[in-house]
Amino acid sequence: MRVYLNLLSAVIFLSSPGAASAAADAAPDTDVRPVIRKAKEAPMPAAGEVPMLMTRTGEDEKVWISIERPDVAALETDLLSRSPLAQNERISVYELTVPELDELSVRMQDRFRRSPGFFAHDSLASALEDLEEPPAPPARAFVIDQQEKVKPMLDMVKEESIISTIETLAAYKNRNYRSATGISSSKWLAEHWTEMAAGRPDVSVTSFKHASFPQESVILTVRGASEPDKVVVLGGHIDSVAGSGDNPAPGADDNASGIAVVEEAARVLLASGYRPAQTIKFIGFAAEEAGLRGSGEIAAAFKKEGAAVQGMLNLDMTNYNGSAKDIYFISDYTSADQNAFLGKLIDTYTGYTWSTSKCGYGCSDHASWTKNGFAASLPFEAKFNECSPDIHTARDTLAQMGGRAAHALKFAKLAVAYMVETAK
Ligand code: BES
Ligand code: ZN
Repeated sequence: MRVYLNLLSAVIFLSSPGAASAAADAAPDTDVRPVIRKAKEAPMPAAGEVPMLMTRTGEDEKVWISIERPDVAALETDLLSRSPLAQNERISVYELTVPELDELSVRMQDRFRRSPGFFAHDSLASALEDLEEPPAPPARAFVIDQQEKVKPMLDMVKEESIISTIETLAAYKNRNYRSATGISSSKWLAEHWTEMAAGRPDVSVTSFKHASFPQESVILTVRGASEPDKVVVLGGHIDSVAGSGDNPAPGADDNASGIAVVEEAARVLLASGYRPAQTIKFIGFAAEEAGLRGSGEIAAAFKKEGAAVQGMLNLDMTNYNGSAKDIYFISDYTSADQNAFLGKLIDTYTGYTWSTSKCGYGCSDHASWTKNGFAASLPFEAKFNECSPDIHTARDTLAQMGGRAAHALKFAKLAVAYMVETAK
């Protein structure tokens, strides 16, 4: 659909039900997350205390957001009292300055316990794409026949390695997408992954630089031996957040635990001498907490290049064992076919139990891949409303999760099985 933009800010109505419409009727398990209880107690910085180390940009830097209209109505904020630049039945698009974006994120956190709970974009064109229906991913066969390769690899997955990565990442004061420590944490990941790639000419590591913020995404690529143009992606977000500014945000569960799973899968696959037929990419996304900005840019770039992405698995929050079953597949903004395949992988290779749950909104980086027409999934640590109550606070530490990574270990095994059974 072609969208005509009226630069005088008249509202554009689009007849399409909108990108999020498939998920729109999917009510979350509950309106209020348990985060609400504990986040209230989180120490918030006094007004003058923030943000010491932040590399903030000026008042004149523009950002475009797409936000659910019921959220706009419920927020009743002056920040969105102007007319949207465009909207459909479900979603409105606004232009904000970076300080306004930060302010709106805090209001969203206060009101809905989502932070920010809207999508942020570097360009108006990108924001307008959220008003359109995402293309359906191409159909593909889901077959499980790699037992001989997968089974020995699963024995190589180690809790200690996962713990070590979580501890390293959680030791940064925060991994905010604009803070000095946020920048260093992504540089550490790039250096660490470069060491893992040593001695393998088919493996390379690149930092993906983003135009509008300083934290870089990190991509480790293993070139496919026979079908290098096909790509399978395993990713999670590097950044962490607690309020706005330079607050302590260890983000051990959200999302050092996801990066640790991505890294453990990469470590095991490389250590076993595995050579995938298709290209596999391990990605640490920058700026998820700022509105899926890192993954949004990368997934859009893959689409633009015409990359043949066979599937994407997002790891975001893997180590808080909050519900009866081991793993929950988030059913909105994800591929139902791929989710079913992942359930079969669990049944085939592990004795773990699984079920499904809903976020009720595009809650993490898988939504960026879905929006760009790729099959994406989010295996999650608990039912949506039984997840860690400590995320987005200074209490999101490994100690708070008992100092163990036994829950995250299950996700690393699933990730290994998924990569081998997909990139074949
Ligand atoms: N890890 C969370 C998403 C999440 C939280 C999923 C709780 C399921 C249960 C993620 O890092 C996050 O905070 N996302 C934002 C929204 C996003 C568009 C920035 C959120 O949930 O507010
Ligand atoms: Zn997260």
